[in-house]
Amino acid sequence: TPLLSTHHVGQTIHFHPSLPSTNEAAFRLAADGAEHGEVVITEQQTAGKGRRGRTWVSPTGLNLYFSVILRPELPPQRAPELTLVAAVALAEALRETDADARIKWPNDVQLGGRKVAGILTELSAEPERVHFVVLGIGVNLNAGPEDFPPEVAATATSLSQVLGRRVNRALFTATLWGRLEEWLDLHHEVGFDPVRHRWKELSSTLGQEVLVRTDRSELRGVAEDIDGSGALLVRTAEGSLERVLAGDVEQLRP
Ligand code: BTN
Repeated sequence: TPLLSTHHVGQTIHFHPSLPSTNEAAFRLAADGAEHGEVVITEQQTAGKGRRGRTWVSPTGLNLYFSVILRPELPPQRAPELTLVAAVALAEALRETDADARIKWPNDVQLGGRKVAGILTELSAEPERVHFVVLGIGVNLNAGPEDFPPEVAATATSLSQVLGRRVNRALFTATLWGRLEEWLDLHHEVGFDPVRHRWKELSSTLGQEVLVRTDRSELRGVAEDIDGSGALLVRTAEGSLERVLAGDVEQLRP
């Protein structure tokens, strides 16, 4: 039986030994008309992009770096839901290899409190219509601490570090793309509810005391829930419920 059992995701693959960033390459392909599910994948990135202007350290041959082009039938304001869809798929794929993956809001996937995967969603849209979405995913599969600069190694891990064995990249990739397609299809057919439900089960953020940094401010409180659009709801010490659409969460331990 074939490794990959999807209908769309990864049925067309654009492989490059090296790229600045798979998100950038996928964005150009999508602008030129590439179809839903086409994937750009590489062995290394020389300018891998993280959220909030950060870089994604992308050493050669060890990890997984890819971007999927999506053409969702969604209004632009619902596009952020796709990032949570991807986080759920990632956590489930990691759990299938027996790792206890958890999601830190909005979309950091962690093992034992350390980041193992990241998602960067980029959008091309008009006010009323999404042209396409580029869903970029990086997963640390076989990198050791020595493969990252010290400041990254301090908070990151890889699946192989946690499992204590090498991880088969092709197998993991096929599993992940399968999960991704399943959750994308469910989201398309049923909507955000089942995604939100599963996200909450997999979350390490809810119930925690958190410090949230947004572009403009800092907020401290207890992460109570995510709402129907994936925003984090934080109960402050003063008792008000604040809604955070984008930011970084630090989980504070008492
Ligand atoms: C984050 O957590 O900050 C998001 C990291 C996203 C990294 C992936 S690797 C493949 C794709 N191409 C990029 O340049 N970034 C994403």
